[in-house]
Amino acid sequence: MIDSVTAVRDLAQHEGETVTLQGWLYNKRGSKSLYFLILRDGTGLAQCVVNEEQVDADSFEAASAATQESALRITGTVVADERQVGGYEVQATAVELLSLAEEYPISPKAHGVEFLMNNRHLWLRSQRQWAIMRVRNRIIQSIHAFFQEDGFIQMDPPILTGNAVEGTSTLFELDYFDEPAYLTQSGQLYGEAMALAHGKIYTFGPTFRAEKSKTRRHLTEFWMIEPEMAFYDLDMDMTLAEGLLQRVATDVLRDCADELALLERDTTALQKATEGGFPRVHYSEAVEILRSDETQQMLDAEISDLEAEQAALTTERDENRARYGQAKKGEKRRIDAREIAINGRLDEIEESLRNLPQWKESAANFEWGNDFGGSDETVLTKHFDRPIIVHRFPAAIKAFYMKRDPEDDLLALGMDVLAPEGYGEIVGGGERATDLDFLKEQIAAHSLPQEVFEWYLDLRRYGSVPHAGFGLGLERTVAWVCGLPHVRETIPFPRLLGRLNP
Ligand code: 4AD
Ligand code: MG
Repeated sequence: MIDSVTAVRDLAQHEGETVTLQGWLYNKRGSKSLYFLILRDGTGLAQCVVNEEQVDADSFEAASAATQESALRITGTVVADERQVGGYEVQATAVELLSLAEEYPISPKAHGVEFLMNNRHLWLRSQRQWAIMRVRNRIIQSIHAFFQEDGFIQMDPPILTGNAVEGTSTLFELDYFDEPAYLTQSGQLYGEAMALAHGKIYTFGPTFRAEKSKTRRHLTEFWMIEPEMAFYDLDMDMTLAEGLLQRVATDVLRDCADELALLERDTTALQKATEGGFPRVHYSEAVEILRSDETQQMLDAEISDLEAEQAALTTERDENRARYGQAKKGEKRRIDAREIAINGRLDEIEESLRNLPQWKESAANFEWGNDFGGSDETVLTKHFDRPIIVHRFPAAIKAFYMKRDPEDDLLALGMDVLAPEGYGEIVGGGERATDLDFLKEQIAAHSLPQEVFEWYLDLRRYGSVPHAGFGLGLERTVAWVCGLPHVRETIPFPRLLGRLNP
């Protein structure tokens, strides 16, 4: 390889100098004697101008032959040009074609989701996916910093386990040398053991759920961050979750402004999240809100707003189509792009208009004691401009390890953080039961085999103390921060019901 290669991201530091860039051809315009090559090197995009008079014949031939996603090495002078992507342009003095790409399957035209998912290994190169992965990386960094700066120890729980954590219905079972084993649903129980050894720990690893749900929030393999703290109660637990999300929102807003702009993310709600003060809503209060007239009115208003937007977009699309025939080339390109955007938005609106009447009904008829469905969470969060924390759920719908509310035995000291803008649950956690006999009863009541939990019960036999923790779902957090309609774009290679490849 060449010894001094410059990253596109660093071009600003090299104005007026000669640099060498390595990357892939993102886009190309030009003809005969002049080519404008947009080079993508993983750190950014840069326009490279190849003028026949300024390069040798081989270089010009390389520029002329290069196809989309061909690998290139380009040497040239860095010139400031604020009209260009990144604010700089490279005036090429040499172009080397490292690998000529076959006809690239992903073009700027609209592709269906299935097609893109089948080509995920290539789709990752597109600008939007690039931005999402950058934000994901920033969030990961932020989470580690938040915990490490506060004295938490990262500890990795096993992935192969002999016991369930979150109930037995969503376990992936496998054969472990003729014994049944499971892919972990959550590292929590191990986290509790580690917290009693270290005080404050967090896990950061893959977790698995064999849920047969095909929703925009469900993956079968996802990454979870699970802090667990000795001598913490539910309030302290909620405060920690709030602090973590504030930190994530602050860091992303500060360091990923370009990525968020590329994703056209309206950052109002993220901004609000940095201010903290997430409303804490008792489960019973949340039920009241769902069943209220105000909720019905809010959803009716949303339906009429969407219908108005649908009508306006349809009119615009019809007008565009009517003048397409007479339009010039540039104008046609704009209309094409707008058509894609309008169709995308119309699909979203149609889906919402299909869903909203059901959501209205589900909210109005919600019964105390039930678990919130995805739509109930969405509806509930529409009442708030920042994340909220719902706490004290009916014990009957929660896991065996939850501590009961000393004020009301029907309630468990659990909490969920619900993200605004319809995203719903991104954190689930709470205070853990500390009493040995109570836990034994709960294990039996949940039809779990006590033998495999003996080690867990030891944590109550030897120095049991109040403790609490939670699990943050990384992909749901990325989806919310980036404003994505589906978690499938939040992880490089998503695992979903019906999707194991690539
Ligand atoms: O609410 P959950 O099931 O909680 C637990 O597993 C606890 N043991 C955590 C703890 O207290 N240590 O899952 C926690 C979070 C959810 O809030 C959600 O963000 C994410 O994990 N999650 C999923 N993300 C994507 N796909 C799925 N199928 C998910 N299931 C849960
Ligand atoms: Mg949960």
